[in-house]
Amino acid sequence: MNLPFLSREDLVIGIDIGSHAIKVCQLQRTDKAYAVVNLGSATLPEGAVDDGTLSDPEVVGGIISELFKNLKIKKKKVGFSISGYSVIVKKINLAVMSEEELEEHIQSEAEQYIPFDIDDVYLDFQDLKTNEDDDDRTDVMLVAAKKEIVDDYLEMLENLNLRPVIVDVDGFALENTYEYNYPKEENVALVDIGASKMNINIISEGISVVARDIVVGSRQLTEQIQSAFDLEFEEAEALKLGHIPAEEKQEEIEKIFSSTCTQWVLEIKKAIDLYHSNHPDAPLTRLVLSGGGSKVSGLVDFLASETNLEVKLFNPFGNMTVNLKKIDPDYLNSVGPEMAIATGIAIRPSVI
Ligand SMILES: Nc1ncnc2c1ncn2[C@@H]1O[C@H](COP(=O)(O)OP(=O)(O)OP(=O)(O)O)[C@@H](O)[C@H]1O
Ligand SMILES: [Mg+2]
Repeated sequence: MNLPFLSREDLVIGIDIGSHAIKVCQLQRTDKAYAVVNLGSATLPEGAVDDGTLSDPEVVGGIISELFKNLKIKKKKVGFSISGYSVIVKKINLAVMSEEELEEHIQSEAEQYIPFDIDDVYLDFQDLKTNEDDDDRTDVMLVAAKKEIVDDYLEMLENLNLRPVIVDVDGFALENTYEYNYPKEENVALVDIGASKMNINIISEGISVVARDIVVGSRQLTEQIQSAFDLEFEEAEALKLGHIPAEEKQEEIEKIFSSTCTQWVLEIKKAIDLYHSNHPDAPLTRLVLSGGGSKVSGLVDFLASETNLEVKLFNPFGNMTVNLKKIDPDYLNSVGPEMAIATGIAIRPSVI
């Protein structure tokens, strides 16, 4: 990817506000590459962020502010990303037109695809320029996000004296990190498994061709462990992560892992099958897994054997330099998959 020269002021701090944890990434542009200068995360209390909406903005704001303080981040320009029911991403096929014409036309075009009142959403679009010539039609990626949800995020961040200048979408941020770190010519499935949702984004020749959010995630495992043994959420989470020994509960926990992973893998296979039926000549070469749920033990191998693809954990820093005196290398390695979205936001140049 060709990157314009950017001074360090041109990059935002990437903030990924998940339902389980806030992730923050700060990059610096050097002559040849990006340098990771700051990384951190903090867990959120249950229910503070739900299905992509801020249920408790004060609590979330407090945690972001604490995290910025701990990481000694002074910069004010930030970017964040949204996901969940309030964001609609849709690829539509339109007659070729100029950017200005498209800008005018998109509002009326969008109405038929958006399940919300058009006045209640922020609209954005990108011409994917899939046309061969000007008489052909082209694919346009349409993004609509509910204003009230986005405004809640903006208000929460502005109350912290931060300047939100970029609003991204989880799946696009992931794609952005991928494109910077991996070979472009691959056909690849990017799968992010968080605490409460799985985002599948299949990219063929640099274009996202299948994109979906599914309401499954690693919290399911915690909740099942919780109800199987009648535990508090925190204790079930600690058991899941192996922070406390499972002992006689081991067998039951393994069963929970295995049935839930089977369900995740079925969803992933459905998306892959859909892709292969529409693109029989461009088979997928690999699957790259991110999000905390990607660390469930045995998932990578299970997914590889079920899909016959090479399955790798996402390393968002593969093409970046890192100051290992400041950032602990073990932390960097372990946190990579969860940081993929925050890193994708941090790569975006801010134009404001
Ligand atoms: N080794 C592990 N095994 C199983 N689950 C894990 C492991 N490590 C982290 N997780 C889980 O990953 C989840 C956190 O991942 P992540 O930070 O990607 O989620 P999130 O972005 O907050 O959630 P979402 O995107 O779904 O809103 C938690 O449910 C956590 O328990
Ligand atoms: Mg997430």
